[in-house]
Amino acid sequence: MSESTYPEVNDLTLEEKASLTSGGDAWHLQGVEAKGIPGYMITDGPHGLRKSLASSTGETDLNDSVPATCFPPAAGLSSSWNPELIHQVGEAMAEECIQEKVAVILGPGVNIKRNPLGGRCFEYWSEDPYLAGHEAIGIVAGVQSKGIGTSLKHFAANNQETDRLRVSANISQRALREIYFPAFEHIVKEAQPWTIMCSYNRINGVHSAQNHWLLTDVLRDEWGFEGIVMSDWGADHDRVASLNAGLNLEMPPSYTDDQIVYAARDGRIQPEQLDRMAQGMIDLVNKTRAAMSVEGYRFDVDAHDEVAHQAAVESMVLLKNDDAILPVASDAKVAVIGEFARTPRYQGGGSSHITPTKMTSFLDTLTARGVDAKFAPGFTLDLEPADAAMAADAVEVAKGADIVLMFLGLPEAAESEGFDRETLDIPAKQVELLEAVAAENKNIVVVLSNGSVVSVAPWADNAKGILESWLLGQAGGPALADVIFGNVSPSGKLAQTVPMDINDDPSMINWPGEEGHVDYGEGVFVGYRYYDTYDKAVDYPFGYGLSYATFEVSDVKVAKTGANTASVSAVVKNTSDVDAAETVQVYVAPGKSAVARPIHELKGFRKVFLKAGESAEVSFDLDERAFAYWSEKFDDWHVESGEYAIEVGTSSRDIAGTGMVELDGDGKAEPLTEWSTFGEWSDDPVGSKIVASVYAEGEAGNLPKMPDNDMMRMFLRSMPINSMPMLMSEGGKKITAFMLDEYAKVTE
Ligand code: BGC
Repeated sequence: MSESTYPEVNDLTLEEKASLTSGGDAWHLQGVEAKGIPGYMITDGPHGLRKSLASSTGETDLNDSVPATCFPPAAGLSSSWNPELIHQVGEAMAEECIQEKVAVILGPGVNIKRNPLGGRCFEYWSEDPYLAGHEAIGIVAGVQSKGIGTSLKHFAANNQETDRLRVSANISQRALREIYFPAFEHIVKEAQPWTIMCSYNRINGVHSAQNHWLLTDVLRDEWGFEGIVMSDWGADHDRVASLNAGLNLEMPPSYTDDQIVYAARDGRIQPEQLDRMAQGMIDLVNKTRAAMSVEGYRFDVDAHDEVAHQAAVESMVLLKNDDAILPVASDAKVAVIGEFARTPRYQGGGSSHITPTKMTSFLDTLTARGVDAKFAPGFTLDLEPADAAMAADAVEVAKGADIVLMFLGLPEAAESEGFDRETLDIPAKQVELLEAVAAENKNIVVVLSNGSVVSVAPWADNAKGILESWLLGQAGGPALADVIFGNVSPSGKLAQTVPMDINDDPSMINWPGEEGHVDYGEGVFVGYRYYDTYDKAVDYPFGYGLSYATFEVSDVKVAKTGANTASVSAVVKNTSDVDAAETVQVYVAPGKSAVARPIHELKGFRKVFLKAGESAEVSFDLDERAFAYWSEKFDDWHVESGEYAIEVGTSSRDIAGTGMVELDGDGKAEPLTEWSTFGEWSDDPVGSKIVASVYAEGEAGNLPKMPDNDMMRMFLRSMPINSMPMLMSEGGKKITAFMLDEYAKVTE
């Protein structure tokens, strides 16, 4: 043993080191008992604890787990735009882990919602990496503040379920860096998750578990990740290759630790690499020892239910509220239609499935609160066709009501981990029912339950109000009642655009891929980056959400704080007599650029709770990265010099004010060569002077005269200078030589 209390890798035999790099069973680490290293439990995640009851046998029954608080899945929580609230959810989840002696909870999952049909959109945060990273960090920091580990997943590019174990996500470096990595990068740099789970899929042909560039070069060497990487369940297909790539832990075990021993003996694994991977496992165990030693701890079930309740309140997004149909007056005659009101859909299917500690439906809540409402289920939650008698009953219930609350959405079988959806639409029988009810009563509010965006365009005209409630976790019933009856104003904002038609989505042309690969042809133009840049109509834009209050954002002030940094401030005022929250959003809009850039990108947000009439100033610091794009030419981030607009607003399409800032740029420049075009020479500070002298020397008769008119200047812009002989034969050669000689004089 070393001097420290705990063993270190040098205290272990080769076999013991190898054993640390795979699990003991499906939900446990493999300890080394003889050396005092326990085999702690690690389990799902991500929106509450799923501690499988069958864990001792290693078998998986996704629906059989100990009771735990079911918080709103990320689809809901991401709409809160409230990192502090998300932090509280993380703390509560950790307390449940302490009680259940779970050392690491497997989440959060921060993959980008590339296409709304993605089966796991319900447990991912956003189409925007800045938002995903700045929200999900709350889970990581909150859980870890209590001495429990998280597993940030699925690194990287698990954006679809179709063929998820094999598909190669073929993605440009730029799109990886700007879209698919930043949520991971931010959380790694700012919160150091104790573990990361690699994805099943391949990236540009290489399985994530075996991707040295991904797990070592980028994650550890560039971002400074200090924790361990585990495989997704069954994602490790070659123990030796994975360990060499930087994978510390295979889960669940394939009982092949001997392969690691043999490879270490014959040199296919270097001793230092095995030591590094095994030491990471020891470090992880040591970090969790204190929390795992707590005995007899019981978490406060009611207090956690209250956190879930608050989280659910802030997860809802009010999309439409014509005639101020919401909130519902306490004395209104209410009709409630839709099975979801009685049998809520509150979480997604698959490995995240939780057994909640409590469950109160919306209907239960109405009863508990003494609200007298008539109810009809209207339809079944299976995939059977409409039931005419049920539908007729619902129409009857709607007649004469002051307001009809129609609970529509996606039944459980329509979306889950493991498969992608095939349509954006909710089941036809629900839409038909809405039409039939609307024929009798116009005062309809549709309350939606779904894990990923559904189309609203086909039926929205039949509803005066639309409340997108996503999946709200176990306290959704009371939370819905709070919002619907106006105890609290809705404050959620969309983390995902609601398109008019799935075929408007830029990824559709490459969805879900073919013959084992999917090309991310839309590059960085994901979600609003596409819709806003190309000015496409959408139903509801990114960042959008109504309130019972009204707000005004004004006094946008932008200041340059460094060569490539800026600050922005604005005043937000609650101009109504209702207490409520508004989320101020900052978007950076680059000016002229050498590459195709989205028209604007989210670079800051702040949710502000304001009492009626109150106002507050919000300010943001924008670092160099806020203005940068990933340059494949420089293989690095690059800030171009020039003007940038900084927009402040309340959605990507509601910009209240804009300020300009002129940045110096980071000065990165490629040396000019004979293969650089006239355009590149002209745009370069040194090259432009040489181009000017080419024209001047031509005029003076010292060089062949350049053809000089607007058309020719445009024509030349994309021509490498070594093509001049093609245009001017011998004379052209002289011009090329002159330019290269002059350049050499200046730069030598
Ligand atoms: C999922 C992971 C999950 C793991 C363990 C996998 O199929 O992709 O998200 O953590 O199973 O349940």
